[in-house]
Amino acid sequence: MDKLVIDGGRPLHGVVPVSGAKNAALPILVATLLAPGEHELHNVPELVDVSFMLSLLGRVGCPSLVGLGGSPDRVRLDTTRIAFCEAPYDVVRKMRASVLVLGPLLARCGQAHVSMPGGCAIGVRPIDQHLKGLEALGCTFELDGGYIHGKVDQLVGADMTLDFPTVTGTENIMMAAVLAEGVSVIRNAAAEPEIVDLARFLRSMGARIKGEGTDTIEIDGVPALRPARRPYSIMGDRIEAGTYLLAAAATGGDVVAKGAPVEDMGAVIDALRETGCEVDVDGDQIRCRRSGDLKPVSISTQPHPGFPTDMQAQWVALMAIAAGESSVQENIFENRFMHVAELLRMGANIQLNGNTALIEGGGGLTGATVMATDLRASASLVIAGLSAEGTTEMLRIYHLDRGYERLCGKLESLGASIRRLPEDTPVVVGRPAQTTAAV
Ligand code: EPZ
Repeated sequence: MDKLVIDGGRPLHGVVPVSGAKNAALPILVATLLAPGEHELHNVPELVDVSFMLSLLGRVGCPSLVGLGGSPDRVRLDTTRIAFCEAPYDVVRKMRASVLVLGPLLARCGQAHVSMPGGCAIGVRPIDQHLKGLEALGCTFELDGGYIHGKVDQLVGADMTLDFPTVTGTENIMMAAVLAEGVSVIRNAAAEPEIVDLARFLRSMGARIKGEGTDTIEIDGVPALRPARRPYSIMGDRIEAGTYLLAAAATGGDVVAKGAPVEDMGAVIDALRETGCEVDVDGDQIRCRRSGDLKPVSISTQPHPGFPTDMQAQWVALMAIAAGESSVQENIFENRFMHVAELLRMGANIQLNGNTALIEGGGGLTGATVMATDLRASASLVIAGLSAEGTTEMLRIYHLDRGYERLCGKLESLGASIRRLPEDTPVVVGRPAQTTAAV
């Protein structure tokens, strides 16, 4: 196991390339199951979760090749044959997004056997809405041995209303409805940009979809889909981009995130501007500069286009160093404040009151040994370590590898002092030892 060692207090400067979006790549990889044949995808991020998904598709019978033409972001998948309609427990427990195979397997094979994903660090995360939508399309499900066993003879279009705008739930239902007989309408659908990217990809394979990016998606089912005629390029990762912009704000630096889906980042850009940062947009580039003090800004997470829950932990870290009071309200997940306990170890002043973190910022953070608990909590601790006085070491950084491509390299290129070391490497954390005056 490795750890990260960060020497804080260095303003970040430079241009950071934004990778393909994890939460668009995962559903798009699975959507290739809907169209037998060879698919080519570009701007696929090199992440553990993407590797997990490719290995799951391999176990289903669809091999892939990563690094076409020497480009690590280019992937070819062959979905000509599906040998097994199963997502086994040992894969799903590592990556709950595996549940996205439900819709495509039912649409392609008429059956699916998917391990129940179980909870995760940030919440119970049920999939009742996924099943409700698929049942509306004619699927039936049985739960046995921790697996969901689904089957359907013919998917039939339906008009349905979700109880909650679930992102992967909307995606699962979309990927079944595109091959249903007749028209489907998904009301109270999630409107996240990654759903828009999935819809674009499905249309490139011949699907008939409209309304994606709003709360009502209409799909006119077709008898079959075929691989897109040209390679499909996945959208940039708005959460990765936002994380680097907040790191610039936290360190008093000047960073350009290049390749960002700027039009999808309004809530984060507005909040950053409210803190006093200068944020300029030019095409797919967002520049964030902070020269003065950070002003405290309260936020409340909401489904898109509101402030994204995947940026909440990072925002808490930023507010911990903004002099004054702010609050961060988490409305999407029931347990997404595990970064707070670790930030307290670095000297942050935060109180949790139900789903709200009350932050008294400005006291300055000091390096410490901290533990990553989930993907975005780890990003929060990186931001805190970059701005803290002295050295921070972060354990269990496998969480970071799931969602941030080449994090160390990208931060080093911006001037950070960050190293990935074996966990048992001795490191002195905290403020640099005061040099004793020469006698
Ligand atoms: C997606 O998760 C993202 N993951 C998450 O990103 C993101 O935080 C989340 O959407 C919200 O934006 C992927 O896209 C792979 P939800 P998802 O279904 O689809 C409840 C990251 O850090 N719910 O929109 O699982 C659920 O319990 C990850 O990149 C039901 O009650 O999120 C949660 O409280 C973390 N029943 C809320 O909805 C259901 O059937 C949001 O869940 C489904 C969800």
